[in-house]
Amino acid sequence: MEGNMDNKTNHWQQWIPVLEKELAIEMQKAPSPSEVHAKDHILRVMRRCLRLGEKLGADFEILVAAVYLHDLGRHYIDDKAHGALSALKAEPVLERIHFPQENREAVLHAIRVHDVSATSEDRTTLESKILYDADKVDTLGVVGVLRYIRHFYGRKSIDYMLDDIDARWDGLALDETRKLALQDYNYIKSYFTRLKEELGTDA
Ligand SMILES: [Fe+2]
Ligand SMILES: [Fe+2]
Repeated sequence: MEGNMDNKTNHWQQWIPVLEKELAIEMQKAPSPSEVHAKDHILRVMRRCLRLGEKLGADFEILVAAVYLHDLGRHYIDDKAHGALSALKAEPVLERIHFPQENREAVLHAIRVHDVSATSEDRTTLESKILYDADKVDTLGVVGVLRYIRHFYGRKSIDYMLDDIDARWDGLALDETRKLALQDYNYIKSYFTRLKEELGTDA
């Protein structure tokens, strides 16, 4: 194994059940839990974060906490710009679970800048870039098709969705992510292009 997986003797894994419990508590408290940002999304983002993090030598403890808590704010507001609110909700959680003080700011930074309201320059740490990318590519591939349809179909045009997909792809921070997700990008683009052709101009 490379990266931090072995040099920290998998010590970061102890946070998974703790964070999982906290996520469940926070989602229960939230007024309008968003189904496309629920636990299945978190687990997919985590798998990608760990793959990217292993390749690029990221700190897994920071990554895992950031992944579990990055969308807390999304269950309060239906807004793409929910990173700041998520960070606000995550702070007391980190306190409650006695997360190492020295890594808290890095977790909160990654959460704060994971949404579209932040620019690529705002993402100053490897972990924040990895979280951003892993989160964005969860809207590609077969799962991406399902998420776009659940979230936007009937409310937005197919052109809106195609433009949104391209904007996410162009905004990815790491070449490594593009390599990992190219097939998924091609799949969702061709799916919605074909859907538009078959449904006609009103789609
Ligand atoms: Fe988010
Ligand atoms: Fe997310």
